[in-house]
Amino acid sequence: MMYSEKVMDHFNHPRNVGELEDADGVGQVGNPVCGDIMKVYLKITDGVIEDVKFKTFGCGSAIATSSMATEMIKGKTIQEALTLTNAAVAEALDGLPAHKMHCSVLAEEAVKAALADYYTRRGEPVPPECRIDDADSCPLGHG
Ligand code: FES
Repeated sequence: MMYSEKVMDHFNHPRNVGELEDADGVGQVGNPVCGDIMKVYLKITDGVIEDVKFKTFGCGSAIATSSMATEMIKGKTIQEALTLTNAAVAEALDGLPAHKMHCSVLAEEAVKAALADYYTRRGEPVPPECRIDDADSCPLGHG
């Protein structure tokens, strides 16, 4: 079996799908190799991620990882969300096939892009943890 039960569950029943009209931060990232796009919306109050929604135009692993990533940061502080890694998301899904790990990178990057947007909108410096390292995005080194 190539995909874990958790991956299949989050793919078939993704959590937190949608948009937030009054989002405090929105991040969109794409993988130029596969063309998949992920958008994350954050509602943040007093430094806590009150609500989060996502839209993913992408493969099943991208949908499952964005679903899991949103579940992992919901109700957490910004500081906690900043420590989210694609490896942690993949682990929470009981693993991904090696050639699908780059899909989980998209989820981490979308969350960080949304947090970066939150800081930018407030006129505050974007923490270094929000920066997206393009070199990690693609196993082929295409960014
Ligand atoms: Fe593009 Fe999965 S193949 S994110």
